[in-house]
Amino acid sequence: MTTEGNWRSPLARALHQSNRAPARHLQLATVTPEGHPANRTLLFREFREHPEGDQLCVHSDRRASKIDDLQAHPYAEVCWWLDETRDQFRIAGSVHLITAATTGDDAAYRQEQWKELDDHEKALYISPDPGAPRADEEAFDKAFSTTPPEDPPDTFVVLLLSPTRIDHLSLSGHPHRRTRYTRTDERWTEEELNP
Ligand SMILES: Cc1cc2nc3c(=O)[nH]c(=O)nc-3n(C[C@H](O)[C@H](O)[C@H](O)COP(=O)(O)O)c2cc1C
Repeated sequence: MTTEGNWRSPLARALHQSNRAPARHLQLATVTPEGHPANRTLLFREFREHPEGDQLCVHSDRRASKIDDLQAHPYAEVCWWLDETRDQFRIAGSVHLITAATTGDDAAYRQEQWKELDDHEKALYISPDPGAPRADEEAFDKAFSTTPPEDPPDTFVVLLLSPTRIDHLSLSGHPHRRTRYTRTDERWTEEELNP
C-alpha cells in the first residue's frame, strides 16, 4: 500500500523517451448520455499536480460531443500506446471540466492553458461549431485570419482526468510486464499481473 500512486513515473519516463510527436496523442473514451461508448484522439498537454493526486490535462471545445458525454457521466478511460518504448497505459478516472463558468485557482489555470496555445490552435475555438453541417469557407477563413482573443473564449474547456486505475502493459522485454495501480479512497495499491 502507498499513499502516492507512482503510476506517473513509468508514464513520464515513457513520454520522455519518446521523440516523435504522436507519442503525445492519446485516446479518450467516454459514455454518451444514451449509454453508448464514444472514443477520440486528443493531445496530452501536461500533468497537473494537485493535492489529491496528479491529473492529466487535455483541452477541448465546449460545443463538442465529449463535453455532453462528460456532463452526463464524468468518467473516462484513456488508452495510450507509446510505440517507441512499447508501453500501453490504460488510465481510468473521473474528469473535472474547467469551463468559462469556473472560478478560483481553476479559472487561473484555464487562463494559463489558453496562453500556451499558438494562434492556429486558438482559431479552432472561434471556428464554426464542431460536428455541425459544414459551414462556408469564409467562416473558417474569418476564424483563422482574426487575431485570437487575449482571454479564453467560452468554447475553451480544460479537461482534468484524475486517475483511479492505471493498467500499464510493457512489451519491451520478455516476458511482458503488466502492473495495475488502483486508488481506493486515499490509498494506492500496486500489483504485478500476468500480461
Ligand atoms: C492527432 C489528433 C489530435 C487531436 N487533438 C485534439 C484535442 O487536443 N482536442 C480536441 O478537442 N480534439 C482533438 N482532436 C479531434 C478529436 O479527435 C475529435 O475529432 C473532436 O474533438 C470531436 O470529438 P467529439 O465529437 O467526440 O467530442 C484530435 C484529433 C487528432 C486526429
